[in-house]
Amino acid sequence: MERVVSGIRPTGKLHLGNYFGAVKSFLQMQKEYDCFFFIADLHSLTTHPKPSDLHANVRSVLAEYLAMGLDPEQCALFIQSDIPAIPELYTYMNMNAYLGELQRSASFKEKIRTQPNNVNAGLLTYPVLMAVDILVHHADYVPVGKDQQQHLEMTRQFGNRFNRLYEQEYFTEPQAFSFTGELVKVPGLTGQGKMSKSSGDADTVIFNEDDEVIRKKIMRAKTDSGPTSLNQEKPEEIQNLFDLMALVSDSSTLEHFDQSYANCEIRYGDMKKKLAEDMVNFISPIRERIREVERDEGYLSKAAKIGADKANESANKTLKEVREIIGFRKFY
Ligand code: TYM
Repeated sequence: MERVVSGIRPTGKLHLGNYFGAVKSFLQMQKEYDCFFFIADLHSLTTHPKPSDLHANVRSVLAEYLAMGLDPEQCALFIQSDIPAIPELYTYMNMNAYLGELQRSASFKEKIRTQPNNVNAGLLTYPVLMAVDILVHHADYVPVGKDQQQHLEMTRQFGNRFNRLYEQEYFTEPQAFSFTGELVKVPGLTGQGKMSKSSGDADTVIFNEDDEVIRKKIMRAKTDSGPTSLNQEKPEEIQNLFDLMALVSDSSTLEHFDQSYANCEIRYGDMKKKLAEDMVNFISPIRERIREVERDEGYLSKAAKIGADKANESANKTLKEVREIIGFRKFY
């Protein structure tokens, strides 16, 4: 059966971008593929979380995965730091990743710009750790949002380079995957680029927040003074509202506002009110389920244990084979 691997960093509560970029594909894939979905807590160490925050964030992403419908009996649902083979394989793969290519990665350049006081080595080799997550389970597909596309290219590069170095067709070439057929970029509410935790609270619609907060955020989203000529092209912040509407509203609603924009009759207040209502209707049942699962200590620990066992079995097999390929031999 073809294999699927993907993960999310536990740096806060999951938002709409995480859901449509990743989790929605996970839900579709868990029935048909051999899936490994995890919480990338090692990756989150680049931002130096306090120990109590780290644990709380991992716990809340686990509850969110389960509440959104990931089934620990169908897929391996695990926490990255429960798999000791990952940091070991990361050591081996780091020997074969080059400074120039790591420095050229878009995510590294972005970090240099946004956090110049914390450009640590973990950030530089972040794509190597991510490649290991994927290669260790010989993934065929990796469901991710558009922002991860370059990391997938680097993963293929590292896998192929290992194969060439050791003259073996060992690692599989993974492909990025999205339930829509095209990688998704969910826009943020503040009008600049993708929805992202690092752009601040006002930019994201989070699953574990109250209806009133969601309504307020959407009503505050940036708009302009409205179209002035028929069939005018939409500026970015307006297109973003339509893109968000396409995710949670039905097609007749989208069509209605699209038409009224084209005719210069649109009232953004009405559009945002409708978007807020559809958003609340989409999110609130999931939020209620998250709050139930969060209280169920037994379910959380059982799910994490089944997932860790499945992922360790797969990762340990790879590690054993890689150690043999590299040439480690025991003297005792
Ligand atoms: P992270 O934690 O930033 O995001 C998790 C997933 O959510 C997607 N995503 C989005 N998709 C569309 N629009 C958005 N606005 C948006 N925001 C986030 C991301 O594309 C991602 O799929 N490096 C990864 C975590 C990771 C990983 C892996 C992923 C570590 N190892 C192995 C796949 C396979 C990251 O930081 O994602």
